[in-house]
Amino acid sequence: MFSGIQPSGSMHLGNYLGAIKQWVQTQSPEAYYCIADLHALTLQIEPAALREQTTDYVTSLLAAGLDPEICTLFVQSQVPYHAQMSWLLECVATFGELSRMTQFKEKASRQHGYRVGLLTYPVLMASDILLYETEQVPVGEDQRQHLEMTRLVAERFNNRFGPTFTVPVGVHPPAGARVMDLQEPTRKMSKSLSTPLGSINILDEPSAIEKKIKKAVTDTDNEVRFDWEQKPGLSNLLEIYASFSGEKPDEVASRYSRYGDLKNDLASLVIESLAPIAARYRELRSDPSTLDAIAEQGAAKASAVAGPVYRRAAEAMGLF
Ligand code: TYM
Repeated sequence: MFSGIQPSGSMHLGNYLGAIKQWVQTQSPEAYYCIADLHALTLQIEPAALREQTTDYVTSLLAAGLDPEICTLFVQSQVPYHAQMSWLLECVATFGELSRMTQFKEKASRQHGYRVGLLTYPVLMASDILLYETEQVPVGEDQRQHLEMTRLVAERFNNRFGPTFTVPVGVHPPAGARVMDLQEPTRKMSKSLSTPLGSINILDEPSAIEKKIKKAVTDTDNEVRFDWEQKPGLSNLLEIYASFSGEKPDEVASRYSRYGDLKNDLASLVIESLAPIAARYRELRSDPSTLDAIAEQGAAKASAVAGPVYRRAAEAMGLF
């Protein structure tokens, strides 16, 4: 099992429900999770902010329940094989394939003179995944296309250079795989694009969570029904509820007849579920030397797996 998260902006409810909750539930000695700081370099980000946010993300993942005694948690740039493997795979993927990626097209259209790293981003992601002989990648829906790219590159490599990589599959949670913006429910909740009211951050104060849920955009007909087409705002709230309670969104809908009641209960459920994470975060964040030691130990464990896979790939390609 392998997955990653980019340490940019604040970790939000989409990240938590789409990915991190699954990571925590399925963690094992064969699970590897990374803070993708190399990926964050594709954004306009201040060095001091990147450093700070990387520590914040290590802390948040531990606070959310990842246990470094059980799984491996590390920072991508501390394991140099990721960047090295990325070069090998850049010589396998094509420009046409990368320039057709939806996220690339969206991000490139918003930046004048975008960096090459934005184009090659999925190749670095494929490298992350393939270095750990990964079978399953727990991610949100928005990563589906990148996962397909990873499979394509792995298969092409294996056909051209002999069996080298395990071909992974993406796994998505039954509810919460695509959490939408609370103010614009036809767009996903996002670290970079959501407005403050559109996104719930996992460290938000209870009063902020309550305000954001109460102000979430719904429709005016006041019938509680799970229907993404007609009722995206309400369906998003039902899905968030279902993801926390472990029910189906339909079941949640059947218990409510008024939007206000659903919003009140959802606010309590989200506050109650996130409060222990925020409390643990504050405790852990006050001890940076322990966080550094956890990251260092994680990088050593990750390198021990990634090194031999990198060497196998390099040799298969004919490197000396
Ligand atoms: P990132 O940092 O954008 O998101 C981290 C995880 O959160 C999921 N996610 C969502 N899930 C549901 N609803 C949403 N609104 C939502 N927004 C984000 C993402 O699907 C992801 O699982 N490139 C990746 C990080 C990465 C990675 C990897 C992932 C680097 N290497 C290798 C998997 C495997 C990214 O930027 O995710």
